[in-house]
Amino acid sequence: MKAGTEHRLYLRDARSLENLSTGEVDLVVTSPPYPMIQMWDSAFTSMNPDIGNALNGGNGNEAFEKMHLELDTVWGNLYARVREGGFICINIGDATRRLGDSFRLYPNHARITGTFLALGADPLPVILWNKPTNAPNKFMGSGMLPAGAYVTLEHEYILLFRKGKKRVFKEAEEKMRRRQSAFFWEERNNWFSDRWTLSGVRQKLDRRDARDRSGAFPFELAYRLILMYSLRGDKVVDPFGGTGTTMFAAMVTGRNSIHIEVNPGMAGIIREGTREIISVSRELVKKRLIDHQHFIEDYTARKKSPLYEHPVYGFPVVTSQETDLQLQTVSKIAEVEEFLFRVEYENVSRETSNRFTQETDILRFD
Ligand SMILES: C[S@@+](CC[C@H](N)C(=O)[O-])C[C@H]1O[C@@H](n2cnc3c(N)ncnc32)[C@H](O)[C@@H]1O
Repeated sequence: MKAGTEHRLYLRDARSLENLSTGEVDLVVTSPPYPMIQMWDSAFTSMNPDIGNALNGGNGNEAFEKMHLELDTVWGNLYARVREGGFICINIGDATRRLGDSFRLYPNHARITGTFLALGADPLPVILWNKPTNAPNKFMGSGMLPAGAYVTLEHEYILLFRKGKKRVFKEAEEKMRRRQSAFFWEERNNWFSDRWTLSGVRQKLDRRDARDRSGAFPFELAYRLILMYSLRGDKVVDPFGGTGTTMFAAMVTGRNSIHIEVNPGMAGIIREGTREIISVSRELVKKRLIDHQHFIEDYTARKKSPLYEHPVYGFPVVTSQETDLQLQTVSKIAEVEEFLFRVEYENVSRETSNRFTQETDILRFD
């Protein structure tokens, strides 16, 4: 892997992606403005004024379709730039809405899936993200009387697509990078489930109030997807980058990234976030190490014995695939020119790993 990574912010409309070349993108992690969710009406109307007219005229179907046509432009341009074997991960929620006298669901996840099928992508099993709800007893419709109530929407989707055949790792350098990017066996078991409950919120980069206002997803969502679907040194793109969550996750995981965002007001939030990257990267590595230690204690308590020892860190691991896993922390971050950030890393040594697992101020999820 190169000594460091680069992260570029473009403040522009994602419908034109001329700064990206064909096949340059290894992974997309994103969440677009959600069609038919009121907070995004003006964003869509500024892309096409007919959308506002359709909404005002109570024509939900027309507004829904026209909003998706704008997103389709982004998906089509982006797809052309994804490498063979690259992944596209899209967080999206469906919308329920009353327009005029009609209340109905607008199935955003199905509409976007249709677009990627038409582009030729291979759909993969989706992840349902169970969103914690503040009002578990909330219902919509006719109370205790049948038959006119609607279930509440308590999940969002993470749609997963692959472009073309499985990625091939030919070169020795790439094979080694892949092994170094391994995750722990128990992380695999947890992350590759099709239901995620991310009640936890990263404290520093992930303020809930800012999240509600900007539609940001939790840091952990981007962090996991990047670790699951890319290698260190790969390039991750978020065309609807918002507050910078995907970029921050790419920074701490040793991936390069490109972040596109139409709202220039986000630049300040992103710069502010980059100041936390060094300490957050240490906390995340520490948390992974402590979680692994707890897992091994539990595993051996159940009379199972992990078969391998990690040659650098000296702790047990369950599979041979984990023996080249290499942890890194961010040692330096600088904005080397406007909106271009360069990040440098330090390998975690056995001494650092031992020190981390003895520290008690571990990352809290609330
Ligand atoms: C659902 S939010 C994404 C939030 C992001 N995942 C985060 O964690 O902050 C959608 C973002 O897309 C941006 N956006 C809307 N239309 C856009 C366009 N045409 N091009 C680029 N960004 C756009 C919005 O300003 C908003 O920040």
